[in-house]
Amino acid sequence: MEKRTRRLRGTETLRRMIRETRLSANNLVYPLFVREGKGIAEALPSLPAQIRYSPDTLAKGMETAVNAGVRSFLLFGVPAAKDERGSGAYDEKGVIQQALRNVKMAYGNDVCLIADICLCEYTSHGHCGLITNDKIDNDATLPLLAQIALSYVSSGSDMAAPSGMMDGTVASIRAALDQNGFADVPIMSYAAKYASALYSPFREAAYSAPRFGDRKTYQMDWHNSREAVKRIQIDIDEGADIIIVKPALPYLDIVSIASQRFNVPVAAYSVSGEYAMVKAAAASGFIDEYRIMCESAVSVFRAGAGILITYFARELAGAIHKGDIG
Ligand code: PBG
Ligand code: ZN
Repeated sequence: MEKRTRRLRGTETLRRMIRETRLSANNLVYPLFVREGKGIAEALPSLPAQIRYSPDTLAKGMETAVNAGVRSFLLFGVPAAKDERGSGAYDEKGVIQQALRNVKMAYGNDVCLIADICLCEYTSHGHCGLITNDKIDNDATLPLLAQIALSYVSSGSDMAAPSGMMDGTVASIRAALDQNGFADVPIMSYAAKYASALYSPFREAAYSAPRFGDRKTYQMDWHNSREAVKRIQIDIDEGADIIIVKPALPYLDIVSIASQRFNVPVAAYSVSGEYAMVKAAAASGFIDEYRIMCESAVSVFRAGAGILITYFARELAGAIHKGDIG
């Protein structure tokens, strides 16, 4: 008989049986913005359907996501005042410190809280590092990042997650945590973060666009992939426990390489611009939001990521629960 190869056919149930990629709400991380103030839950024009909370409303605001099965949250702070040295970031009464304490009070260890460590939301110039003579002062920034990490972790952050791309950040934070009784607290490092145009809705939400220049002296050139391998290696050598590739969809090649080469969990961050594109296209009737959301999320895990950071976390948890994906 003639031998022939053929596609696998069958029922939906059969197709589900042989799926190669499985998703769980446990692997999703939901980014949230916290701003100074009281009683606030305001819509974000640049991020449709996302809400910016004040520290006192955050725990309640997280309820629908928690009930949908989302367990991990990435917190970004928007202080009332910004200054040259980003002092709002390491203020014991800062927005993130208050938010962490409140949310831990409400949910304890049923949630994993990850406070993003960077200066750009807190500096008047909007850069991720200190500025000396109009230039990023990498080394002068490191002690501040360590101080922010200690402050967040003491306030309840379950991990240290530095996103500023300053060289030596992971080593500096690891040393500070170890010396202060936090040897067990892991570091999730934004190791491969590209100088992407996809961050603009975020910068509107956090008022963190740089006032001069750009971030290209510290974020990566998107023409490069071997450079990502090098930077991830350095962060792991310095003590990173989890590494992040950011953005996600245009960088799935990096997700794939990273997950094959390194023996640490790889997180992909589907950033604000990726979310906004889907929302805008769907609002114009060009695409089906739900199906694009599902397909995109699956592609990230198929590429090898173990964790997906996404503004669709709550809806994705629902899709997983319904059995539409995973
Ligand atoms: C900066 C930071 C950025 C994001 C999170 N932290 C990018 C930037 O402004 O350079 C972007 C996240 C997103 O777009 O969703 N440390
Ligand atoms: Zn930054």
